[in-house]
Amino acid sequence: MRHLLDITDFSVKEISDLIERAKDIISNPSVYREACRYKKLATLFFEPSTRTRLSFEAAMFELGGNVLGFEAASSSSTAKGESVCDTIRTVSQYADIIVMRHPDEGAPFAAVLDTGVPIINAGDGGHNHPTQTLADLLTIYRRHGRLDNLTVGLCGDLKFGRTVHSLIRAMSNYDNIRFVLISPEELKIPEYITAELDKKKVPYKETADMAEFMPELDILYMTRVQRERFETAEEYERLKDCYILTPERMRSASETMSVLHPLPRVNEISHEVDSDPRACYFEQVANGKYMRMALILKLLSACEKGEEKPITFYPSDKKCKNLHCITAKEPELKSLKIIKDGKERCYYCESELH
Ligand code: CP
Repeated sequence: MRHLLDITDFSVKEISDLIERAKDIISNPSVYREACRYKKLATLFFEPSTRTRLSFEAAMFELGGNVLGFEAASSSSTAKGESVCDTIRTVSQYADIIVMRHPDEGAPFAAVLDTGVPIINAGDGGHNHPTQTLADLLTIYRRHGRLDNLTVGLCGDLKFGRTVHSLIRAMSNYDNIRFVLISPEELKIPEYITAELDKKKVPYKETADMAEFMPELDILYMTRVQRERFETAEEYERLKDCYILTPERMRSASETMSVLHPLPRVNEISHEVDSDPRACYFEQVANGKYMRMALILKLLSACEKGEEKPITFYPSDKKCKNLHCITAKEPELKSLKIIKDGKERCYYCESELH
C-alpha cells in the first residue's frame, strides 16, 4: 500500500511525475473526466479547513468519482470517544481512499496501522502538510521553471507551521537550495528539521529580521501565526503580528521574487500586496486542486497494482513526551520508534524519545 503521510514518502522523480500529470490535467481536463468513475474518496476532517477539504472534493468530482466524509470531529463518532484507528477501520470499508486532517501530530501515522486503503495526510497538528507542499511545488515550478537553484525565505510561525516543515523537507532534496528562516525566537523551526538540513549539508540562515535577506530571496513563503496551537491566548497576542508584509517591504525584493502563503491569511500579508504581480497565493489554491487530482490518480493506481512501500519502525519501551502527539490523546496506541539522524524518535510525531 502506498500512502502520503510525509512528503518524503515520494521521491524527487515521483514528485516530478505528479507535476507533469498536473500540467497535463490543466491542459487536457476532459481526458480525466471519468478517470475515477465508481471510486469513492473519504474526507475525514477532525479540524477546520476550507482549501484542503474543498480542493480534494473538487478534485475527486473532476475525476468523475464520489466523495463522502465529515468536516468536523463533532459530527463523527470521535465525539463519543472513538479512536482514530477504529474510525479508519470503519471508513476503509466504505471508501477506496481516505484523506484525513487531525489536530494531533502523527494521527495519520496511526491511521495507516489499521487501513486497507491509501491514506493521505491533509495536515496533522503542527507536524506535516504534504499535499500543501505539492501545491507549493507546482506553483514554484510554474513561476520559476525550476525547483533547484533557489533561495527560499520562510517567515512567521516556523514552529507550528506544518506547511513550512513539509516544504523544507521537499525542497532540501533539490540542488543548490538555500533557506532563510525568519521567525521570532519563540517560533523557531523544530530541531528535527534543522537536524535534517545539517545532515544533508543544506545551507540555511536563521534570523528574526524580515528585511535582512529580502533582496536575495527568489521565494518568500509567508505563514500565519497558528493561534490554535498556543498554550495561552496572551502568548499568541504577543506574537501574532510579528511580521506583516506590506508594499513598502516589497520594495527591496527582487522583481522576480514570488510571494507564497498556504492561506488562510490573518494579518501577515497586507491586502495591498495582492495586486503585486509577485503575489501568487491564490495561484497556489488553484494548483492545489490539480496536484491533488494527480495524487489521487497515483495512489489509486498504486493500490490497483499492489505497489508497496514498507514503513520501518520498532517497538519502543519509551513513551513519547510530546503533549501534541496522538499518543498523548490515545495512550492505547503502541509505543513505536524510528531511527533518524542517529536518534530514537517517536514513529508518530518524530519527537526525540528520552
Ligand atoms: N492551506 C490550508 O491547509 O488551508 P485550509 O486550512 O483552508 O485547508
